[in-house]
Amino acid sequence: MGTNKLGIHTFYFKRNMRYSKLIRCAAAFVAAACLWGQEPRVTPKASAGDAGADGVSAAAISGSGQDPAAFQRGGKVFATYCAGCHGIAGKGGPGAPDLIRSVLVLDDEKGILIAPVIREGRPDKGMPKLPLSEAQIADVVAWLHVRTYAAGHRGTYTYGNVVTGDAQKGEAYFNGAGKCSTCHSATGDLAGIGKKYDPFSLQARWLQPRGGNARRGAAAASHSASPTVKVTLASGESFAGTLDRIDDFTVSLHDSTGQFHSFNRESADSPKVEVNDPLQAHTDLLRRYTDADIHNLTAYLVTLK
Ligand code: HEC
Ligand code: HEC
Repeated sequence: MGTNKLGIHTFYFKRNMRYSKLIRCAAAFVAAACLWGQEPRVTPKASAGDAGADGVSAAAISGSGQDPAAFQRGGKVFATYCAGCHGIAGKGGPGAPDLIRSVLVLDDEKGILIAPVIREGRPDKGMPKLPLSEAQIADVVAWLHVRTYAAGHRGTYTYGNVVTGDAQKGEAYFNGAGKCSTCHSATGDLAGIGKKYDPFSLQARWLQPRGGNARRGAAAASHSASPTVKVTLASGESFAGTLDRIDDFTVSLHDSTGQFHSFNRESADSPKVEVNDPLQAHTDLLRRYTDADIHNLTAYLVTLK
């Protein structure tokens, strides 16, 4: 166990040289160290109706269709490798998203979408590549599916029936605290949105617009909301276009003629890199919504017919 924990963090340390990432790494390490002290949290007792492991009832485990043994093992894998960033219940932590509310996790079947994220990581986004065996990946996937199922059936994340909120409160949030109206208008760009999508797709559209697009393949490539980047070399020459990929060492883009350019990043500010992600606001908001905000906003958006 201990070596596993140390193993990941050593691994993560080597891959990421940037100061901010070191801080995040340190935070993850501290969190993991804390978890270490709470080892018996995944207990193999879950009798019917009783909130057992992780507060998930046996009924939820069987309702989810997952193998209870895989769920138990997956909980341990999650606590060891994932909880330091995603939180012990998978509900998110500083800088790492809520996986129980993740559209990618909700849309997953048997790890088709989740496994590649674990195997490859998203090193440029702070999600490290993790050295899990295929069996461990299958177990952690089973754990996530039980958790999302249990959350949905407890009403904290109403997956089957998403329209349970209060549309009036949703409207107030849209124009007030949610600041949605600074970019959108109910009678402008979002007019008719309630007709355009079914309620679940609609909720997915605004909760994680990028997640949804990523899976739409070709549509994503031509999507108007793709991040753009401007790279300015020491000589003053600059290149701008659609961001292709960015990590600590390289940045690449396609310019307006479709030509590909790639640059080595010698230091944090040479060349100068300015990324503009039109959906950054959504990504930031995702960490702030409460479950009630989500339900109320969806209930409101559904009325925009
Ligand atoms: C060092 C911190 C860290 C660790 C450890 C970590 N993650 Fe992540 N994970 C992240 C971050 C940050 C993201 C968001 C990446 C992005 O913005 O695309 C992420 C994204 C994800 C996603 C994609 C979610 C989505 O909706 O797109 C999944 C699935 C995921 N992680 C699962 C796991 C699992 C399972 C483990 C353990 C085996 C794990 N992560 C360990 C930081 C971490
Ligand atoms: C800083 C600007 C900004 C803010 C704030 C913002 N959005 Fe967005 N939103 C966008 C952009 C950009 C897109 C992508 C538009 C596109 O697909 O061309 C988008 C997409 C959407 C979509 C999908 C539209 C479609 O036709 O598929 C919905 C729904 C949405 N936002 C709702 C919201 C809600 C609800 C809030 C407040 C909680 C919000 N947005 C806050 C910029 C913003």
